[in-house]
Amino acid sequence: MLAVNGVSRAFDGAPALAPTSLNVAAGEFVSLVGPSGCGKSTLFNVISGLLEPDAGSVRIAGRDVTGRPGSVGYMLQKDLLAPWRTVLGNIVLGAALTRGVTAADRAAAAELAERHGLGGFLDHYPHALSGGMRQRVALMRTLATGRDVLLLDEPFGALDAQTRLGMHRWLQEVRAASGSTVLFVTHDVDEAVFLSDRVLVMGPRPGAIVDELAIDLPRPRTLEMATSEAAVAAKRRILSLLHAEATT
Ligand SMILES: Nc1ncnc2c1ncn2[C@@H]1O[C@H](COP(=O)(O)OP(=O)(O)OP(=O)(O)O)[C@@H](O)[C@H]1O
Ligand SMILES: [Mg+2]
Repeated sequence: MLAVNGVSRAFDGAPALAPTSLNVAAGEFVSLVGPSGCGKSTLFNVISGLLEPDAGSVRIAGRDVTGRPGSVGYMLQKDLLAPWRTVLGNIVLGAALTRGVTAADRAAAAELAERHGLGGFLDHYPHALSGGMRQRVALMRTLATGRDVLLLDEPFGALDAQTRLGMHRWLQEVRAASGSTVLFVTHDVDEAVFLSDRVLVMGPRPGAIVDELAIDLPRPRTLEMATSEAAVAAKRRILSLLHAEATT
């Protein structure tokens, strides 16, 4: 579904992302972990088409989309809701910015919100929502783009541990219902293990993928699985890869 081939990027002559390749199959959930500044968001900006790579290509469903935005749903690392727009207004923001919101967009957004527990809040403004709910709205906005491939850059980074657990369960449900292909950035190794089919580990700036690990846990994932021997072994392996990269 997503094929990234040898993309690299420098800023002002200083490499930020070393040549990086990855593939994500349709319906797969893949996480990227790596030290701060290794180029994760830069890679996402390139995949989304917002940023031109210096080299390499990005293909989605076989189509070359390098440097061309509009093919993925992208939730940016600091994805703020527009405070002057309601929950519904925020979910349809993508359409509002590109081609104008139709009645069908509103109906689809309301249905999406309804299905995923935000039905009673369509007319609320962001300031009246909890942090977890704001993140749900931002995710709904990403889903409402209707794209098959979603890039989620640390969507739960600012949430407390307990809210985060609830969001994990919720994201699983949302993803199961949408069948989306997801590439996910997180600093939280537990989160990566719990949510992913595969975890890719990046080295320090200029980052590239140095290793990957399949997470062989059945779905839907449960809290018990999160502390299972297989999950703990995967976590240990990822942490040791991150540690090895940090000390070489
Ligand atoms: N537009 C830009 N201009 C100049 N430098 C940039 C730009 N965007 C990113 N960088 C630099 O490129 C490097 C990689 O940044 P990036 O945001 O991709 O890292 P990251 O892995 O997402 O980090 P974090 O985990 O902290 O979000 C950093 O050193 C950053 O300062
Ligand atoms: Mg980042």
